[in-house]
Amino acid sequence: MMSDEMGATFAPRVFSGVQPSGQLTLGNYLGAIRNFVPLQDTHTCMYCMVDLHAITVWQEPQELTAATRHVAAAFMAAGLDPSRSALFNQSMVPEHTQLGWVFNCVARLGWLNRMTQFKEKAGKDREKASVGLYAYPTLMAADILLYKATAVPVGEDQKQHLELTRDIAQKFNNDWGREVFPLTEPLILGDATRVMSLRDGTKKMSKSDPSDLSRINLTDDRDTIAKKFKKAKTDPEPLPETVEGLTGRPEADNLVGIYGALAGLSKAEVMAQFGGQGFGAFKPALGDLAVEKLGPMRDEMERMLADPGEIDAILRKGAEQAREIAAPVLDEVYEVLGLVR
Ligand code: AMP
Ligand code: TRP
Repeated sequence: MMSDEMGATFAPRVFSGVQPSGQLTLGNYLGAIRNFVPLQDTHTCMYCMVDLHAITVWQEPQELTAATRHVAAAFMAAGLDPSRSALFNQSMVPEHTQLGWVFNCVARLGWLNRMTQFKEKAGKDREKASVGLYAYPTLMAADILLYKATAVPVGEDQKQHLELTRDIAQKFNNDWGREVFPLTEPLILGDATRVMSLRDGTKKMSKSDPSDLSRINLTDDRDTIAKKFKKAKTDPEPLPETVEGLTGRPEADNLVGIYGALAGLSKAEVMAQFGGQGFGAFKPALGDLAVEKLGPMRDEMERMLADPGEIDAILRKGAEQAREIAAPVLDEVYEVLGLVR
């Protein structure tokens, strides 16, 4: 049980979401999905394909459908068990958007104006960004608080959105004088909370990067994985002997971090093994390790994706489970607000 500042207790519950847009990357896997698995032992877990977040930017309908199944398959191939966790897509649970509207009325414009993900995604011509892209973080807060989730495993880039979620929960509880929502904790786990692009060590590895060589996709075959690591940008120096020697060498730091995350080693342990060696030796070792870890997952995804009907049935069942928790919470919120029921 988790107590918030006012003393209310909340059952240990986890929510996390991944957008079904583009290809899932090694960043999604190491920064998020991999960390979802052990939480199934300690928490009630809800893992969601956030399709309504995906449409804040243009999505081809057929690709959106395919990407939703693809994320579901990746979740299960990574070890999420639909008999223990609710796996579902966001649009199947209408309470997300209903609570999202309430939160649009709780969050302040000034709060949203500070969100860096909006600034990055909207780019230079902000007038042309969708209203949904701007309101994205209030829907995200609704995803989480609809289940009164106490913890949310995410990569580093989502920290600011989690802070906003806490601000919304706190303001809601204060304004209506009721402890409806917990102050959710972000779980930013492991050494690979920010996996960087293979073409530019200062940029996040992203599904939306125009260069496919910048990322490892979870669907890449073994040869492609090895090739992409071989072509990864590096500097001409050999690997340093110590972790401190990685400072100012973002590409080397990133590859060492990826190796460590895949091997279950700290960066210091990776340096002990490879320090002083050139990238000519390190990159193939990294490629082999990645193929060994990701290859079987890819095979399992492919097997599941051969039967989309089965995946859709799992998502429908997950949505039913989710609604059992979500509907009473939305009811409670509407009652607190004084909406006639
Ligand atoms: P998204 O692809 O934006 O829906 O992200 C889904 C999850 O993956 C979130 O928890 C992100 O924080 C995480 N994530 C995305 N890209 C990276 C990355 N390059 N490194 C670490 N985590 C990431
Ligand atoms: N904003 C997250 C991302 O881009 C996806 C997301 C939506 C999410 N709702 C969430 C993550 C709720 C955690 C919890 O990665």
